[in-house]
Formats: sequence, structure tokens, C-alpha cells
Amino acid sequence: MVTIDLSGRHALVMGVANHRSLSWAIARCLHQAGARLCVTYASERLKSSVEELAGSLPGTLVLECDVTRDDTIDAVARRLGEEFGALEMLVHGIAFARKEDLEGAFVATPREGFQAALDVSAYSFINVTHRMLPLLEQRGASLVTLSYLAAERAVPSYNVMGSAKAVLEQSVRQLAYELGPRRIRVNAISAGPVNTLAARGIHGFTDMLKQHAERSALKRNITKEEVGQCGLFLLGDLSSGITGEVLYVDAGYRIMGW
Ligand SMILES: NC(=O)c1ccc[n+]([C@@H]2O[C@H](COP(=O)([O-])OP(=O)(O)OC[C@H]3O[C@@H](n4cnc5c(N)ncnc54)[C@H](O)[C@@H]3O)[C@@H](O)[C@H]2O)c1
Repeated sequence: MVTIDLSGRHALVMGVANHRSLSWAIARCLHQAGARLCVTYASERLKSSVEELAGSLPGTLVLECDVTRDDTIDAVARRLGEEFGALEMLVHGIAFARKEDLEGAFVATPREGFQAALDVSAYSFINVTHRMLPLLEQRGASLVTLSYLAAERAVPSYNVMGSAKAVLEQSVRQLAYELGPRRIRVNAISAGPVNTLAARGIHGFTDMLKQHAERSALKRNITKEEVGQCGLFLLGDLSSGITGEVLYVDAGYRIMGW
């Protein structure tokens, strides 16, 4: 029998807003496999609820990290250096676009809206990786970010977030190439729609859920637990030969020709 044992390893899980967050689903799987975790949230407003949530995973460190501020990323890196010494796993479950930029015409996306979405949803993955590098290269590491099909297809209302996901997926490949010699693997999970806080910001999300369930090969939507399990696979040794990939956890939606 194959068991996944991550005891003695450390994971930074970024982007937990609540129990629905995809990064939280991955955090739970990592904890069950014995990893020591640090979970980060974006702002003071989320502090008490994320601390309460993390209380269900004993030993978890909970820190604030707004990825638009380098000082907060560096503060997390310093703290992890003291507490963990090395980082073997990193989960990036962070995305943001202004509401108005997900509603109007994509062709009219203002510069500030484009920059804000790309900064938080794509650049942050590169920047966090860079700032955590001294910890990641100690023992080698596996990094996972979360993407969506709009990186490669035109999806109504996804607008600037599709642009951000395209950059994010390219960054996965470029980072995988550059960091491979340092024993750092980099992959993305492209998830089907799941009802989370971020997803509810997409205009017509409920219809999207319905359409995915009807059209996917498995004739259903995915669960956040399925994303968690795929995260566990990509972050642990079972995927040791895989890097630079986008893995689709979408119930077979992407393969269909309609
Ligand atoms: N839910 C879906 O249908 C779906 C599908 C495919 C991909 N994804 C991706 O999964 C990832 C996680 O999203 P989710 O669906 O779990 O929703 P979520 O709202 O639970 O997670 C998004 C997180 O991004 C964080 N964030 C936003 N701005 C930030 C900042 N400046 N600094 C730090 N954190 C910031 C939010 O606080 C939140 O925790 C996102 O990249 C999203 O695009 C989601």
C-alpha cells in the first residue's frame, strides 16, 4: 500500500479566507499526511476567523501576508526561517480582480484594474517564490499554484482574470525550468468551478457551475476535497518526476469538444 507521509516537512499555505477556500482543502490534506503548516491570510479582517479555522489543525502557525506588500512577505519568510528552518512545500491560492473589471467589457479594462489583477494573481507567485528561495532550496521543494481554464480559453466574464491566469501558467513553466536544478518543482492545478468567495465574484458563476456539471465527462462538478488530494499528490514525493505542468481537476470538462 502507498501511504503519503509528510512528517518532518513544512508547508506554507497562502490564501486561506474561510473553510471553502481551495488552499484550505489542500492544507487539510497536508496536515492529515503529517506536515507542519503555516497558513497565511490577506488582512487583519480575516485574522480571527482564519485563526479559529486553523485551530482545527494543531501546531499550525497563522500569519498575515498581503502579497502587495513585500515587507509582509519578508516577515513571513523570517518567521518561517526561525520556526521551520526550511520549507519543502508552498501553496499559492491567491487571486484578486476588481469587481468592475469582471463585469464590464474586457476591451475596456483600465490600466489600474489590469495591473492590480496581474500583480496579486500572477506576479505574487513569482515574488513569493523569490523571497522564500533561501528556505525552499535547503532541502528541495514542491510549489503549487491554482489556475483556471480561462488561461487558455475565452470564458465570459472572466476578463482580466483570464489574462492573469495565462501569465501564472507561463510563470509555472519558467520557474520550473529555472529552479529545477535547485530541486524545486513548480506545478499548477487548473480547477473546475467550486463555490468559494473568489468564485462568487465572477458574474454568472451559478450558471457556470450548472454548465460544467452538464458538459464535463464525469457529468458533475468537482469538490474542493478533490483539489486538496491533487495538491497532496503534487506536493509530495508521488509526483517527484513532474514539474512545469498544469494538472486539470475539472471532472473532464476541458477534454470535451462542445
Ligand atoms: N473557486 C473556483 O472555482 C476556482 C477555480 C479555478 C481556480 N481557482 C483559483 O483558486 C485560487 C483560490 O481561490 P478560491 O476559489 O479558493 O477563493 P478564496 O476567495 O477562498 O481564495 C482567494 C484568496 O486570495 C486572497 N487574496 C486576495 N488578495 C490578496 C492579497 N493582496 N494578499 C494575499 N492574499 C490575497 C484572499 O484573501 C483569499 O484568501 C485562486 O487563484 C482562484 O483563481 C478557483
